Amino acid sequence: MIKVAIINGPNLNLLGKREPEIYGNKSFKLFFNELVEIFPELSLSYHQSNIEGEIVTLIQEQGFSSDYLIVNAAAYTHTSIAIPDAIAAVPAKVIGVHISNIYQREQERHVDLMAKYCFACLFGFGLSGYRLALEYILTEVNE
Ligand code: DQA
Repeated sequence: MIKVAIINGPNLNLLGKREPEIYGNKSFKLFFNELVEIFPELSLSYHQSNIEGEIVTLIQEQGFSSDYLIVNAAAYTHTSIAIPDAIAAVPAKVIGVHISNIYQREQERHVDLMAKYCFACLFGFGLSGYRLALEYILTEVNE
């Protein structure tokens, strides 16, 4: 079975409570359960950390044992060098996701230091970005 690990960064544990006008009303745990039901053909796992080094470790661990990673590094997207380095280091194909359209937001969110190392990126689709990434993965593996 194709293994896909979803790795979310800081404050994404607060989805559903955090700025719902930007990030929506649904908790990620609830949404993840829906994804598991929608994609029985994929082996999905979900990880979240508020700590940069823990995200690096998750990418290292999951990036050698999974076929694909879906990474939303949240605010670290705009500041981290270590997370892009980890993405570049692992063999898994990495899809970057942002819930909001970072290019419509504050200037400091316009820099995505990870995108260059990602196989593809989605932003601005809300939580559907994760679903779209999984749909793409299914299409690619069935080709
Ligand atoms: C985010 C966008 C980031 O700028 C922000 O810091 C987040 C979430 C998104 O998914 O839209 O925490 O990555």
